[in-house]
Amino acid sequence: GFALLTVLCLASSTDSCIDQEKSVLLQFLAGLSGDGGLSASWRNGTNCCTWEGITCNADMRIADILLASKALEGQISPSLGSLTGLLQLNLSHNSLSGELPLEGLVSSSSIVVLDVSFNHFSGALQELFIQSTIWPLQHTLRHRQLLHA
Ligand SMILES: *[C@@H]1O[C@H](CO)[C@@H](O)[C@H](O)[C@H]1NC(C)=O
Ligand SMILES: *[C@@H]1O[C@H](CO)[C@@H](O)[C@H](O)[C@H]1NC(C)=O
Repeated sequence: GFALLTVLCLASSTDSCIDQEKSVLLQFLAGLSGDGGLSASWRNGTNCCTWEGITCNADMRIADILLASKALEGQISPSLGSLTGLLQLNLSHNSLSGELPLEGLVSSSSIVVLDVSFNHFSGALQELFIQSTIWPLQHTLRHRQLLHA
């Protein structure tokens, strides 16, 4: 018991998020014209698993980005789709605009929950994708298939 506790303490004090994933988040932050105060917590040089709205998995990969109702303004960086451990992206109830980067997000094989509702996106597919329950389900299925493979 004691040994396990020691290992857990060591692991949590030395591990940090992956640099490449941190730069994806900083790129997303840089793309915002209003960050609702996010930059106070999203500081380079700190472990991005501890940043506001971010949860990491046991491999210290970013698993959840939960930033609903944070007064975010500006555009979503398509590079978020390159976070290979990302399961949930919730950006609902903000003032995000421009084109929803569907290509970047659809190409993600990991996302199972995507909520970008209540924003100001433009583009023809926007309504369809926001209201569709089929798309996240397909991703859930694909995710399950990967797990069983
Ligand atoms: C963050 O810090 C790293 C390492 O110090 C540096 O290479 C990188 O350019 C910094 N990124 C930003 C956006 O400041
Ligand atoms: C996104 O977050 C909001 C606020 O916490 C919540 O009400 C909503 O259910 C979440 N969306 C999903 C798909 O989980």
